[in-house]
Amino acid sequence: MTSTASAQPGIPLRRLGASGLAVPVVSLGLWQNFGDAGALETQRRIIVHAIEAGVVHIDLANNYGPPPGAAETVFGQVLARDLPGRRDELLISTKAGYRMWPGPYGEGGSRKYLLSSLDQSLARLGLDHVDIFYSHRYDPSTPLEETIGALATAVSSGRARYVGISSYSARRTREALDVADRLGVRLSVHQPSYSLLNRWIEDPDSSGESVLDVAAAAGLGVLAFSPLAQGMLTSKYLTGVPSESRAARGGSLPTSYLTPENRAAIAALAQIAADRGQSLAQMAVSWCLRDPIVSGVLVGARTTDQLDENLRAVERLDFTDAELAAIDECSVDGEINLWASRSSDL
Ligand SMILES: NC(=O)c1ccc[n+]([C@@H]2O[C@H](COP(=O)([O-])OP(=O)(O)OC[C@H]3O[C@@H](n4cnc5c(N)ncnc54)[C@H](OP(=O)(O)O)[C@@H]3O)[C@@H](O)[C@H]2O)c1
Repeated sequence: MTSTASAQPGIPLRRLGASGLAVPVVSLGLWQNFGDAGALETQRRIIVHAIEAGVVHIDLANNYGPPPGAAETVFGQVLARDLPGRRDELLISTKAGYRMWPGPYGEGGSRKYLLSSLDQSLARLGLDHVDIFYSHRYDPSTPLEETIGALATAVSSGRARYVGISSYSARRTREALDVADRLGVRLSVHQPSYSLLNRWIEDPDSSGESVLDVAAAAGLGVLAFSPLAQGMLTSKYLTGVPSESRAARGGSLPTSYLTPENRAAIAALAQIAADRGQSLAQMAVSWCLRDPIVSGVLVGARTTDQLDENLRAVERLDFTDAELAAIDECSVDGEINLWASRSSDL
């Protein structure tokens, strides 16, 4: 299903791969900006505003905050206080894979870690189940049978409605699908990073298949994260580093990503966007959605204005061949894939 129905005013839905689940083409992720990052009132306003606008999918992970866990706590509070009775209108996802607590059981892909983390997430969220539970990253030190088996238990025990994987390479995705078949559990979604400056999921591996090829062949839905390259694909960094921006805060977006080559690519892309009547942020979102194999993108937002700007991308999802060719000319690999080591074959 592509763009058949609307979640609420104006946000189209797409089918998530071969699953029965419809997802909005733009969803909100709470990786940063939620937790102790700013005023609770601002966070509450962004979440409620998103949902009222039709962004019915909220993406979380155990470690989102800061500090880790805080985003789930905030979202649980907003759900209980501001959205009573509306839980089943929403698609709520969480993940486990990165470091969450000290010691050998606080990260990775083991059954012990994944299911304990999921229980902790449910407690913070105040829920008895999430809609999607992800293995947040491939763990080379745990047999895939164990990681995927834990996802199967999440479903069979009622703690998750659907399960998926995130940042797995094409090879590891193929292997995970095979294991899931053997275990009788369906993987419904892959969540990779993807943007005009980070197109790794299009690249074939040594067997000739890309992540997108593997997903398409298996009916695995794709929800792409960081479609704005953490904010680089907006006009904000063209002339400097605004004091309130993610790059200024340091952390996941080092200013070293703002190379002259990347800035030149961003400026050229901004001109193509302007010619289309879009902002660069809007074109960056629309471009990720140009092929319906990508069911939706997960954007971040620090303000409701940012979110509103990004949501207006849905007004212009079509591209001419000439526009796509012009974009290909200037969309460089910006070497900004923070998750590359997790997305490799390891
Ligand atoms: N599975 C994984 O491993 C993984 C990893 C990362 C993210 N994700 C998911 O993807 C979601 C989105 O990630 P992301 O936050 O990196 O996405 P993004 O949409 O690429 O970047 C969002 C950031 O860009 C800036 N921004 C957004 N809209 C803007 C606009 N219109 N104009 C100017 N600046 C704008 C804001 O930062 P500032 O204003 O502060 O600069 C905002 O926080 C996460 O919340 C999470 O759910 C998953």
